[in-house]
Amino acid sequence: MTTNRTYTMIKPDAVAEGHTGAIIKLIEEAGFRVVAIKKVHLTPAQAGQFYAVHQERPFYNDLCKYMSSGPIVPMILEKDNAVADFRTLIGATNPAQAAEGTIRKLFAKSIESNAIHGSDSDENAKIEGDFFFAGIEQF
Ligand code: CMP
Repeated sequence: MTTNRTYTMIKPDAVAEGHTGAIIKLIEEAGFRVVAIKKVHLTPAQAGQFYAVHQERPFYNDLCKYMSSGPIVPMILEKDNAVADFRTLIGATNPAQAAEGTIRKLFAKSIESNAIHGSDSDENAKIEGDFFFAGIEQF
């Protein structure tokens, strides 16, 4: 399905290791426009709220701990076919299975510390973008 916007966040491992600029460069070079961006440090409860859809999964508690372990960089991005094209750009959730040249292949350390998130549908892109940017002007 064609869409114009997706939601992403650069995760704590990639931010802490100083990869924010390199990752944003790859995103822009792939034709995405950054329409909203900030840097935040989530509490475990906020991380749990964001990933509530995964609360029954065995990795949920560790995921909340990891996602609140340091600052992240949430963004809303714009491009034709944004959701699908962005998931191609970041590669598989598990970096061991990610294609060469993808952001996760380049920067992710493990299936949990996987450098970056990308929404999996238009509907979730809107929900996730609103989680961080509701009421904030987007350019
Ligand atoms: P993300 O695409 O942000 O969506 C959910 C996150 O949970 C995922 O990236 C990983 O960080 C994490 N995750 C998914 N599957 C696993 C797993 N099997 N073990 C640990 N963490 C996982």
